Amino acid sequence: MKIIHFSDPHAGGGAEDWMAYFDKRWVGVFNYRFRRRFRHDLGKLERAVAYILSVRPDVAVCTGDLTSAGQPGEFERVRKVLEPLKTAGFPLIYMPGNHDCYVRRPWCVKAMKDMVAYLNGDGVAFDDFPLRRRIAGIEFLLLNTSRPSNLLCSWGFLSREDSRTIAGWCAEKKELPRVLVSHYPMTENHPILRIRHRLFGQKEVLKLAEEEKIDLVLCGHVHKPYFRNRPDGRIFECCAGSVTRNGSLVEIDGDAPGAFTFKTVDL
Ligand SMILES: [Fe+2]
Ligand SMILES: [Fe+2]
Repeated sequence: MKIIHFSDPHAGGGAEDWMAYFDKRWVGVFNYRFRRRFRHDLGKLERAVAYILSVRPDVAVCTGDLTSAGQPGEFERVRKVLEPLKTAGFPLIYMPGNHDCYVRRPWCVKAMKDMVAYLNGDGVAFDDFPLRRRIAGIEFLLLNTSRPSNLLCSWGFLSREDSRTIAGWCAEKKELPRVLVSHYPMTENHPILRIRHRLFGQKEVLKLAEEEKIDLVLCGHVHKPYFRNRPDGRIFECCAGSVTRNGSLVEIDGDAPGAFTFKTVDL
């Protein structure tokens, strides 16, 4: 079994309608104009797609932030780059990030939901998260933690209800390796320093991962890739970082829980 994990391409662009100047999108657009467009190169995503097509994994996982301000044109820009993966014959998992769920404007929400349906296929709908999917001998738990937040913060929230759903699934006998897919990491090294960017409400799910009821967490949001280890050295959280910033993705091989091997691929 082979998983390819990539994250945070952050396509961007200008304001797509005048209402963007009256909601949080102006922050995303400003950030893109003066910062992100110099740091994130969509050409690196094209290289990632070419690599994924050459490797043909059993499943490719994208942990979100396809866009910078969640606007339809940004989704369209990145959809064109990812399109070859849709016709390649292996499944894709896409979990939206906080930038994809940036505002409540109906046309932005629709673009995000359309992207979830398009990339995941198989009738997967954003409103059905959390969702459990068995693909290539893995039990994937798809957990959305991204919601629109205020102007200055990039918080994520895990609701009690979603936490309980995940706990319910984890209470069942584990027959396959169990992999949680979330945009936000479950672990947070500096909860105070990173308070503007962190996830709230994840403690119960983190405990499930620590107790090995969840074998692996795949996440993004933090743009520098990292692995988080269990006390015995096995990896339990893999953050792929930003593919367009670092030009890297992660290749995960292995069939048994605890026997995964991880390789960071520089494109
Ligand atoms: Fe991001
Ligand atoms: Fe993010």
